[in-house]
Amino acid sequence: MADPDVQARELAYHEKLYSGFAQSHFARPAVRALRCHMVARILHLTGAGPESRVLSLGCGIGDTELLLAPYVGEIVGVDLSPAAIRQARADAGKFGVQNVRFEQGSDVEGRFDVVMAIFFLHHLPDNELAELPGKLRDRLTPGGVFYSLDPSRRRLSGAVGRLLIPWMMKRYQTPDERELEPESTCRLFEDRGYQARVEMYDFGSSPLAGLFPGWSWGYGFARLFDDWLLRFGALRKRGSNFEIVARVKNG
Ligand SMILES: C[S@@+](CC[C@H](N)C(=O)[O-])C[C@H]1O[C@@H](n2cnc3c(N)ncnc32)[C@H](O)[C@@H]1O
Repeated sequence: MADPDVQARELAYHEKLYSGFAQSHFARPAVRALRCHMVARILHLTGAGPESRVLSLGCGIGDTELLLAPYVGEIVGVDLSPAAIRQARADAGKFGVQNVRFEQGSDVEGRFDVVMAIFFLHHLPDNELAELPGKLRDRLTPGGVFYSLDPSRRRLSGAVGRLLIPWMMKRYQTPDERELEPESTCRLFEDRGYQARVEMYDFGSSPLAGLFPGWSWGYGFARLFDDWLLRFGALRKRGSNFEIVARVKNG
């Protein structure tokens, strides 16, 4: 069951975020480079292709979805925030992207080959998060894949941020969001009959893109450095954002 108080707080925060700041911040070069990297990663880990139907939960203003659209058959994005959906639809029209649809809400009818959730799970209250894998079995085609990206509770960047720039950390977080524990989040999917695994996406590159959105070569360098750092198991545990890749077993 959705908690109306949490949803009201999420909505209030995001309506404000999407009233101008997000649009200009997400258009900066380092953030665009990060989004492009995410798209390549989603395609690689989910195997999505020109025939795939993709559902994006908590799509925000749809900037990742619009970059992903040329590589897949169709994308439907849903979000609680009317301001986000207005912007996503406007941008789809402006850039002439025709295989996307954006709807206000948390769900849509239909079956999808891929369901993705970028920085979304950690906004759900614990009970909704626990229920999601079961609900998504009705959204995924047999053999369909779920992909998510969320901040890890063990991330070193979070500990450093809380120490050095606590006001900034607070400013960019809703009252109800929290970092998630990768393994227990993954287990929620395994317990619902998915074959699921955790991957670590990054170390410092995404936080850097957020802090210095105009510095695209800085992002590029940090991304390369992350790819090297994430080879080391001990460091991988302290990475910033983790992914869940979960495939439906037995249809
Ligand atoms: C951190 S933002 C991420 C947005 C986007 N995926 C991105 O990468 O920029 C989380 C999004 O989830 C949406 N959201 C939060 N709770 C939701 C819910 N229960 N149903 C649908 N959307 C929700 C918010 O409106 C917000 O746009």
